[in-house]
Amino acid sequence: MKHIKTVGEMAKVAGELKCSGLTIGFVPTMGYLHEGHLSLIRRAKKECDYALVSIFVNPSQFGPQEDFSNYPRDMEGDLAKCRHEDVKVVFTPEAGDIYPDGFSTSIEVGKVSEGLCGALRPGHFRGVATVVTKLFNIIRPDKAYFGQKDFQQTLVVKKLAADLNLQTEIVVAPTVREPDGLAMSSRNAYLTQQERAAAAKIYRSLASARSLRESGERRPDVLEQKVRGSLTEEPLIKVEYVSVVDPEGDKILRNVRDGAVIAAAVRIGRTRLIDNIVI
Ligand code: PAJ
Repeated sequence: MKHIKTVGEMAKVAGELKCSGLTIGFVPTMGYLHEGHLSLIRRAKKECDYALVSIFVNPSQFGPQEDFSNYPRDMEGDLAKCRHEDVKVVFTPEAGDIYPDGFSTSIEVGKVSEGLCGALRPGHFRGVATVVTKLFNIIRPDKAYFGQKDFQQTLVVKKLAADLNLQTEIVVAPTVREPDGLAMSSRNAYLTQQERAAAAKIYRSLASARSLRESGERRPDVLEQKVRGSLTEEPLIKVEYVSVVDPEGDKILRNVRDGAVIAAAVRIGRTRLIDNIVI
């Protein structure tokens, strides 16, 4: 496994891979790798000649009051996991190499980045879109893999790739969950034992809306209310939003159709968690 730490070397190695006709499946991450990340790596390996993983805690997608400095990091553990998955290249740039002095460009994707998490985390998706564009330009991957867990992020990246004619196919893979349903997330590491137990309620609440939908309920507000009601039974959970949206992320005002998603963001103690399921 090659461990590359600079933008210059990464661009050179990616160029060589391209010239040799090999396809690159890229998995961008912020590290502290778990089974969710590993599922993306395995999918990339299956569909492309090489799996290439980046590990970069991107400062520009964190707000001033957010957890950038505390974000969990474990470079040695992550590299061992990548080696074990037979990743060919791991790219771990420094912030100063991605954002050198004087860096001033950013990518604003527009409408899809505005509701849901975008409304509560101003600038977050600008940071995501900017770093993803930069990573795509450095690596020029054939395919890039993103998790459904970050539903709005998948919309932002797909729109970005389409609008800017990026030559990378965006693949969205299913959410990997703990046995009790909690979506895997690097941020789960922040939870105390008690909070971790409470967090199982997120998936159970989303699933209760799916059952209601399956029994014929199609009114988005009723489905949202069901999830809210269920979440608030758990005193450690503070709800940020619960929203039924269509596959493009637009708020559904009338009846839910197939492919709609119910998404929630909550706080448990100081930890912010998001999840969604298709209903
Ligand atoms: P990070 O949170 O590390 O996630 C990296 C990728 O793993 C994202 O595509 C995310 O959706 C996916 N992922 C996380 N948890 C998952 C789970 N339980 N099941 C399936 N996939 C999961 O998302 C980011 O980093 C950053 O915003 C990034 C795209 C790297 C840009 O900085």
